[in-house]
Amino acid sequence: MQLRVNNQDYEIDVNGNTPLLNTLREHLKLTGSKYGCGEGVCGACTVLINGVPVRSCITPVGSTQNKEITTIEGLEQEGKLHSVQAAFLETDPFQCAYCASGMILSTVALLKRNPTPSRQEIVEAMQGNICRCGTYPALLEAIQVAVKK
Ligand code: FES
Ligand code: FES
Repeated sequence: MQLRVNNQDYEIDVNGNTPLLNTLREHLKLTGSKYGCGEGVCGACTVLINGVPVRSCITPVGSTQNKEITTIEGLEQEGKLHSVQAAFLETDPFQCAYCASGMILSTVALLKRNPTPSRQEIVEAMQGNICRCGTYPALLEAIQVAVKK
């Protein structure tokens, strides 16, 4: 199967029904995307497919051929962090950071479709990303800093 991940082409031997998350972590060693619930409800496994956030734990890898997959490892460009990563680094909203890659990728997708979201729009857009440490006020601040950047 051919996959395009973070602007790189891969040829891998994997069953098309395998979850994309397992493929990324086990075959491509891209371990930034995390396994949380495994049921599509926590957002820890979020990646972008053609710029749209998806839950990679419930996405069969076979459905992602010929699509552009972006993981947290692909946001940095030529040694420079993405502005959303920079905003999160600056505000340091995480405790354990297990939710971090999903939060950041969902924020990237949000700001792409709406560069100046209101507080309410941010809250609504991030509903599908759960932070078990409950750092929601700090996360909101980080996203608001990302909006300014
Ligand atoms: S691990 Fe995929 S949504 Fe929770
Ligand atoms: S900081 Fe621990 S899950 Fe979000």
